[in-house]
Amino acid sequence: MNNVVIIGADRGIGAAMANVYHRRGDAVIAVCLEGGTELEDDVRVVPNIDVTDDNAVQQLATALTDHPIDVLVHVAGRGSFDRWAQFDYAQMLADYDLNALGPLRTICALEANLQPGGRVGIVTSRMGSIGDNGSGRMYGYRMSKAAANMLGVNLHHQLEPRGIRVVLLHPGTVATAMTRGAPNWDEFTKPTEAAEGLVSQMDRLGPDTPPEFRHADGTLLPW
Ligand SMILES: NC(=O)c1ccc[n+]([C@@H]2O[C@H](COP(=O)([O-])OP(=O)(O)OC[C@H]3O[C@@H](n4cnc5c(N)ncnc54)[C@H](OP(=O)(O)O)[C@@H]3O)[C@@H](O)[C@H]2O)c1
Repeated sequence: MNNVVIIGADRGIGAAMANVYHRRGDAVIAVCLEGGTELEDDVRVVPNIDVTDDNAVQQLATALTDHPIDVLVHVAGRGSFDRWAQFDYAQMLADYDLNALGPLRTICALEANLQPGGRVGIVTSRMGSIGDNGSGRMYGYRMSKAAANMLGVNLHHQLEPRGIRVVLLHPGTVATAMTRGAPNWDEFTKPTEAAEGLVSQMDRLGPDTPPEFRHADGTLLPW
């Protein structure tokens, strides 16, 4: 049994990951912006944690004082659409704050809780891959997720001396609130299937795993 913390577990992929870990017997703490509406009944919730709020993240660290963590996954994030030459720069900055600085805040705040041999995952997006960018657009989202990928590699260097591994994760194209309204949404991967893939990518991290960017299906993605 592992002590698992999932950040951004109100709904969607984060809630599904918390439920997958919980069902297999791990001790899960679901960190939520609100209260966690899609979580199974007996998952422990730490509510009201906005990962863009320094004070809230400090409250999270206080709530988890002395709580050892084997697996920490930051999932909270958002994708905003933008149009060429009509950028909402304030929105782009807010997305950077959430998608790139959010995981830095939370992982930094919980660093002392991570156990030797611990595993850290950040759900970024294939849209943050420079090597895989074959279609452009989505400036704010792509830039914030590319920054999150850079964060993950930096964290690897920071945490490797303590035997802690870091992986960057792409969940696939998943039918959640974030993608609702997209064409063929009903045919997208379901959150539970994506979560099972993400959990198996977390499981495969070993002491010698380098920092990698992995699809939930196991495909190694280019930076
Ligand atoms: N769905 C996809 O196809 C897809 C593809 C690639 C990457 N991703 C990434 O996967 C992650 C999860 O997305 P999703 O599809 O599951 O979307 P979602 O259903 O919209 O879930 C997003 C989660 O992040 C939480 N959140 C938003 N702002 C927050 C904040 N300031 N502080 C703390 N939590 C916050 C949300 O809480 P509330 O529900 O309370 O707002 C929710 O639990 C995101 O990082 C997203 O970029 C998704």
